[in-house]
Amino acid sequence: MIKNHFSVAIFWTLMLSPGILIASENTGGSSATDDKGTNTKNGMVATITIDARKSRKISDHLFGIFFEDLNYAADGGLYAELIQNRSFEYNPGDRNGWHPLTAWEYTTLGFGYGAISVESKSPVNENNPHYIIVNVEEEGKEGVGLTNSGFDGIVIRAGEKYNFSAYLRQISEKPIPFEIKLRNKKGDLFGGAAFTSDSKDWKKYTTTITATQSSDSCSFAILAKSKGKFALDVVSLFPQKTFRNRTNGLRADLAQTIADLKPKFMRFPGGCLVHGDGLGNMYRWKNTIGPIEQRIEQRDIWNYHQSVGLGYFEYFQFCEDIGAKPLPVVPAAVSCQNSGGTWRIGSTGQRGLPLNEMQAYIQEVLDLIEYANGPATSTWGARRVEAGHPKSFNLEYLGIGNEDKQTPEFRERFKPIYDAVKAKHPEIKIIGTVGPDPSGEDFDLGWKFANENKVEMVDEHYYKEPNWFFENLNRYDTYNRKASGIYVGEYAAHDVKRKNTLRSALAEAAYMTSLERNGDVVNMASYAPLLAKAGNTQWSPDLIYFNNTEVKPSVNYYVQQLYGQNAGDEYLTTKVILSDTSKMAARRVPVSVVKDSKTGDMIIKLVNYLTTSVDAKIKLKGVASINPMATRTVLTGLPDDLTSTPQTSAVKVGKEFSCELPACSFTVIRVKTIKL
Ligand code: AHR
Repeated sequence: MIKNHFSVAIFWTLMLSPGILIASENTGGSSATDDKGTNTKNGMVATITIDARKSRKISDHLFGIFFEDLNYAADGGLYAELIQNRSFEYNPGDRNGWHPLTAWEYTTLGFGYGAISVESKSPVNENNPHYIIVNVEEEGKEGVGLTNSGFDGIVIRAGEKYNFSAYLRQISEKPIPFEIKLRNKKGDLFGGAAFTSDSKDWKKYTTTITATQSSDSCSFAILAKSKGKFALDVVSLFPQKTFRNRTNGLRADLAQTIADLKPKFMRFPGGCLVHGDGLGNMYRWKNTIGPIEQRIEQRDIWNYHQSVGLGYFEYFQFCEDIGAKPLPVVPAAVSCQNSGGTWRIGSTGQRGLPLNEMQAYIQEVLDLIEYANGPATSTWGARRVEAGHPKSFNLEYLGIGNEDKQTPEFRERFKPIYDAVKAKHPEIKIIGTVGPDPSGEDFDLGWKFANENKVEMVDEHYYKEPNWFFENLNRYDTYNRKASGIYVGEYAAHDVKRKNTLRSALAEAAYMTSLERNGDVVNMASYAPLLAKAGNTQWSPDLIYFNNTEVKPSVNYYVQQLYGQNAGDEYLTTKVILSDTSKMAARRVPVSVVKDSKTGDMIIKLVNYLTTSVDAKIKLKGVASINPMATRTVLTGLPDDLTSTPQTSAVKVGKEFSCELPACSFTVIRVKTIKL
């Protein structure tokens, strides 16, 4: 521990709004080596004085999550369905080479034979047009049918139960006996069940398979055991063990990892996925509710397919299950400015819904609010009740648009949606959009428009190198407190090769101290994106990586988790005096202190982005009594580390105590029971 160098230099002295002490311009300056972690000459002493008498309210739902179905976040990821392309709706528009039988194989075991075809006449539901007809001419020893390979294999665990369902229509006269089987690559049987068709109309068949052994790479087969002809659609296999045992639910381990972040809100369904890359590709919430066979599947803007099995009901339910406020984002009736196509506005690829369709679209947005919050007697509230949720989902926030180019056509569409929601639902807080970057034309125009229209909040996005975050620690200190509030809807520090390094995590941790300090004007913030599946990652870095069997949180995840688990609703005025008076040093040891008014706990967050340790001398003022035992959690390592994890220990604290901040570290000290 460093115990000398106690020379006094006040950097954090410029008070811009009551109770906030922020870094002066002394915090400016940078060098090429800054973002590698900077060495100070002799170590450093930081004298940190926390005045609990000077506090101010900050958002009590500051840190949340951003969910978008990219990187196979939904199908093959969080959505627990084990069958890929269950409704035979994949097509080359999703991805070159894909078709209704992608992930399926025609199966003729034991010298059986017949024929299969893809059909669309009289489907299970008009929304779900394609299905398969199998004509079994000779069933052979083991039957004829189809085998699904899942999302690169189906994971099953011995003794666990799996719910099967499928729609069948018997075309030949006689009932057809079926077997369903889980088999490994060698063909060994790991579980199965049987049933017999008995309807010449589409009928849903259900049964359960208990896995006799575990496997990480099973396939699923449905086989007709006699001659006959039948149609097949919406073949589903779900583990009974889903998160909170929900039907049509979520993968338990992945959902739990998300829940462990203790997010205060969840934004969904994106991202670019919201506006899509053409008018037909916008995310329309009504397509995603109701029985799965009635949902309208569609191309995913990230070059794959959305079954929308994880749809609006499931999003709302997950939010409720993890105690996060739902934050849906609807398209502002324009598609992405980067869309291709011919129906273009101006010089961008942004396309707008025809104005004569706007009234219907506005109603669709209003209906979403009714679906979430309306009574059982309302049309859309009744749909929620029918889905099994009589109570309101307590929707408070609604995003309109994502990163949209600020064209006249955008404004012409955003404004009437905004006005209609405000008129009918003044209780809903609307979040507008200010383009994809933290500055520039769209940013400026978006802000101007938001302020003119008194939009409650705007959605700022930034994916920048770690050093940018240190250089922008004071970004919000000077924001006008009377203007629109801020939702930092997407941010991440992008390090070299877009790797999840400790360096990037510390840049985010540092920046988040400034978000807490400005938690009066920054209402919410979410790292993006949340999930990425190995082998199917279109965007990196991400917060949580996974494959079919494992969940691997990134080092950045632990920063988000430490903030989520140590959230406060009051910011305590804090003065930091560093022994090193250089400009660079001041930006390398950011600190924030919050109080959680529910528990009375005081939480001190300290980042050390130097390559030497810092001796933090912490002084608590205005604190009547504290528990002398506190917890300290430290995330540390080398700047390039990818796998650092936080370590927690008990520490003794008092009204004055010292604490070593290791080189390259993020420390959270939770002090219990303070009486102010
Ligand atoms: O988070 C990935 C993408 O980044 C989002 O879809 C988009 O909004 C942003 O450009």
